[in-house]
Amino acid sequence: MKELAGKTAVVTGAGSGIGRAMAKRWAEAGMNVVMADIDEVALDDAVIEVSQVGPAAGLAVDVTAASEVEDLLAFTVDHFGRAHLVCNNAGVAGPSGQAPHELTVEDWQWVLDVDLWGVIHGVRTFVPHLLAHGDGHIVNTASQSGLTSGAVISAAYYAAKHAVVAISECQFHDFSQRDSGISVSVLCPGPVATNIMHDEAHRPERFQTVPTPVATEHSESVTSAMSDVIASGRPAHEVAEIVHNAVINDEFYIYTDPNIVESITARHRAIEQRGFPTTGRMDADITG
Ligand SMILES: NC(=O)c1ccc[n+]([C@@H]2O[C@H](COP(=O)([O-])OP(=O)(O)OC[C@H]3O[C@@H](n4cnc5c(N)ncnc54)[C@H](O)[C@@H]3O)[C@@H](O)[C@H]2O)c1
Repeated sequence: MKELAGKTAVVTGAGSGIGRAMAKRWAEAGMNVVMADIDEVALDDAVIEVSQVGPAAGLAVDVTAASEVEDLLAFTVDHFGRAHLVCNNAGVAGPSGQAPHELTVEDWQWVLDVDLWGVIHGVRTFVPHLLAHGDGHIVNTASQSGLTSGAVISAAYYAAKHAVVAISECQFHDFSQRDSGISVSVLCPGPVATNIMHDEAHRPERFQTVPTPVATEHSESVTSAMSDVIASGRPAHEVAEIVHNAVINDEFYIYTDPNIVESITARHRAIEQRGFPTTGRMDADITG
């Protein structure tokens, strides 16, 4: 999508971090911006910030609910007529340093409902709208964890993010085959300095495990090391700039950490040679 000015962007998870930075970048590009988040306080603050740049409107949305994502489309149409650029970005990290079998049912459900189903609801709701208009661009936020695996971040997160990459690839094929005028990109960031390690603050009650499992020494030390890696990650505004350029240039895979290519190559080599799975950057950063 070469021309952004005067068009409308929709961003989920826009109250904080990457989503908030993308919303601001779209406003700077002259777009109307619709911002959605489950955290109303953060959202209101972000809408005030973005409104200083250009037209912006916010709606409290829990992306795990299909009906709320449908409300987001209706809200967008009411405010700005239609959507052109849709960023399915809301996400949570979930617990770190726990083995796949140690995650509770609620851990799995929370991470998959937000990180995977949130994207699915965005795709199901907004793509028919873009197809009806014959143009548009979707950016699905996955992670470099959608291209690698490891033992530091939870298996639920890896599973959700791999699925988001796969869905985005399937969308690419579909859009190409139907000559739709719609593009799709998948954002696979490395560490970005955001609030993602404080995600428990907006974990809805239905996803709480009762009683709260006791953290082990291992999970606490991994979580603390991960928090340090995230805190020293790229600033979110740089990521927003990378996404902006990728949308303008119609690029599919969007990376923020050039070193990720090494991990991807190693993983693919292991698959081709039927070797053992390799780990991604986060494990290398934390366990050396
Ligand atoms: N920060 C990183 O290092 C990093 C790396 C790779 C991928 N990502 C991905 O980037 C995306 C944005 O994360 P971030 O790092 O900016 O984190 P963040 O916590 O700063 O922002 C995420 C936003 O999503 C919102 N959110 C959470 N659950 C929601 C729900 N059910 N419905 C609507 N909104 C909800 C939060 O309130 C928050 O404002 C996520 O998908 C995350 O997985 C982040």
